[in-house]
Amino acid sequence: MPFTGKLDGNIVVVGLQWGDEGKGKVVDLLARRAAWVARFQGGDNAGHTLVVQGRRTVLHLVPSGVLHPEVRAVIGNGVVVNPAVLVEEMDALAAAGVPTGPDRLLVSDRAHVILPVHRALDAAREEARGAAAIGTTRRGIGPTYEDKAARRGLRVGELVDPGRLREGLARALARREACGGAEASLDELLAWAEPLADRLRPHVRDTAAVLHRALDRGERILFEGAQGTFLDLDHGTWPYVTSSNTVAGAAAPGTGVGPRDLHLVVGVAKAYTTRVGAGPFPTELHGEAAERLRAWGHEYGATTGRPRRCGWFDVPLTRRAVRLNGADAVVLTKLDVLGHLDAIPVCTAHEPGPDGLPRPVFRELPGWRRDISEVRRYADLPDACRAYVERLEDWLGVPVAALSVGPGREQTIPRDEAFAPLLSAG
Ligand code: IMP
Repeated sequence: MPFTGKLDGNIVVVGLQWGDEGKGKVVDLLARRAAWVARFQGGDNAGHTLVVQGRRTVLHLVPSGVLHPEVRAVIGNGVVVNPAVLVEEMDALAAAGVPTGPDRLLVSDRAHVILPVHRALDAAREEARGAAAIGTTRRGIGPTYEDKAARRGLRVGELVDPGRLREGLARALARREACGGAEASLDELLAWAEPLADRLRPHVRDTAAVLHRALDRGERILFEGAQGTFLDLDHGTWPYVTSSNTVAGAAAPGTGVGPRDLHLVVGVAKAYTTRVGAGPFPTELHGEAAERLRAWGHEYGATTGRPRRCGWFDVPLTRRAVRLNGADAVVLTKLDVLGHLDAIPVCTAHEPGPDGLPRPVFRELPGWRRDISEVRRYADLPDACRAYVERLEDWLGVPVAALSVGPGREQTIPRDEAFAPLLSAG
């Protein structure tokens, strides 16, 4: 299926499953052709693992594109920002030789601030839910978005304005009783916030206006999604979801650009499926089979270290994700992990099960039983591996434009020549 998407415009990268699809690596590759990389939702619940020249970097809040010195990064208004985490990440990047000054990292004045009270509430609620826990990352994401929707949260613009900080914090502290009064006093909170505000102040802007000017100059923006389609607050497996819209369209309200400025949507899907936290997962494996896949794929959370739930590729689910995001192309990641198998089950349909929950119908495709992590050209992949990719592409109805066979930048195989320029420098 030929790829016919627009190459020279703004790109949105999103996950087509439950997160951890390998978006960080794809963003890192595509960022070479962008002037800006912008996050539009989520917060430090995300964990993007990048391996560049053998060095592993995990980013939670700073956009992955920041590793390219010529790219400027924006944390958009749709993101929820824990200032302590952001400052820590900026320091870690600086120590690794990656500059994060205000000339290249901007934070929206409208983004909402995650306070210690939000984290405490997230954890307290998870404890209270007991066996019905969502399995959140306990980073305070849900409570912060709640305060945003309830119009009582603290915005970054207020955090860095000494004249408004105290009042904003007092408003947020009004929620203290909700977590047993265990939170800090207003003075303690001010002492926590002020040094962080001083650090962040030079980075804070009306980033929507910054991006509008960039668009006027013809500069390209790469929008970096976090989590995945089925963790979307509206379209995910509610209530086992995150508290933001993760689908591609959210890049517009989450940064302040118009929908017509989103030109190409790249969906990232793992060649199998994983999920962290509770909630439905039709193709999930259990026992030894799950453990094997987890070990082969090193499936442990980048943010919480939790073992990820593992299962087979789910065609109907991923096809729905393609539609929900308007994906122009799919990048299929971790294909190398399947190289241990004689046969690979793929879910091609869901039928109603006895409990009313969808039951997957599997079809087995032949495995290739070979290490493909050193392969660099599509034509050099084993026949059965190419057949696997092409079957998925037919079933999904969208071009699989590139494959990833390992964490390194170089372990990426363009499948479609028309897409290849996006993956190369220049
Ligand atoms: P929260 O976003 O911390 O509220 O967690 C809600 C759900 O989303 C939980 O199931 C988390 O495990 C999941 N989640 C949040 N962020 C990520 C991510 O970046 N990757 C995978 N799962 C995530």
